[in-house]
Amino acid sequence: MAEKTKQSTHGRAAEGGGEPKEPAEIIRVREIYKIYNPGSGEVRALDGVSLAVREGEFVAIVGQSGSGKTTLMNMLGCLDTPSRGDYFLEGKNVARLSDDELSDIRNRHIGFIFQGFNLIPGLDALENVELPLLYRGMSREKRRRIAAESLERVGLGHRLRHRPAEMSGGQQQRVAIARAIAARPPLLLADEPTGNLDTASGREVLSILQDLNAEGRTIILITHDNSIASAARRIVRIQDGRIVEDVPAREPASAGGPAAAPA
Ligand SMILES: Nc1ncnc2c1ncn2[C@@H]1O[C@H](COP(=O)(O)OP(=O)(O)OP(=O)(O)O)[C@@H](O)[C@H]1O
Ligand SMILES: [Mg+2]
Repeated sequence: MAEKTKQSTHGRAAEGGGEPKEPAEIIRVREIYKIYNPGSGEVRALDGVSLAVREGEFVAIVGQSGSGKTTLMNMLGCLDTPSRGDYFLEGKNVARLSDDELSDIRNRHIGFIFQGFNLIPGLDALENVELPLLYRGMSREKRRRIAAESLERVGLGHRLRHRPAEMSGGQQQRVAIARAIAARPPLLLADEPTGNLDTASGREVLSILQDLNAEGRTIILITHDNSIASAARRIVRIQDGRIVEDVPAREPASAGGPAAAPA
């Protein structure tokens, strides 16, 4: 990567020297705008958003329908480029790359989890999880092994040969998580990952995301639901294309329910 951003010193102890270093920034968004239908009738889906996320964070982006969540996710996920502004992903400005360059960045840096799972119906669990590894030019044997390990990681070691239609919604979403983590991208983006699931399966998916975060993966979770957002450790609220709140989640919530009270 040619153009590295200078590490921000914001939030660090300016003196003392003994403070532990904060993790590096994985995301730095600077004043991005996404304007649809410029001119009369324009929609400012993103209206000057700035955001920094450090490695290892678990951030929920929360907002009502139409607030700009998916638009922001598309920017952060390099699925689309902003009308204006900069986006540094691991230090590289990706705001004005070509489609081919963006797809390369996505493949190397980002794992996606969508509301509708987006699995390929004709492929079984193993084959679905292997796909991103195939794009990386990995040998068949290695792909198989990593895909099986990823599926075991999400508790689906017994469903390797099942096709999506032969699995529950919660299982399909776990296949999608296995696919997202298989190539070990540093960043996971989840857009309403529990939106199509019943409460119990949704909780299971959130719990897996919390485990993956505890292992050090950076996660951005997009949701309109405050109770889902509380699985994260930091909550960024978006309204009319602007960030209106950015706060730590009240406590490190466990998706598995409230902790047992001390005896
Ligand atoms: N391709 C487009 N052309 C014009 N306007 C768009 C387009 N995509 C989104 N918008 C508008 O941009 C705004 C933000 O949309 P976005 O899809 O990001 O909202 P959202 O927060 O994800 O909503 P939801 O919770 O319903 O998914 C909305 O007002 C929407 O109508
Ligand atoms: Mg949306």
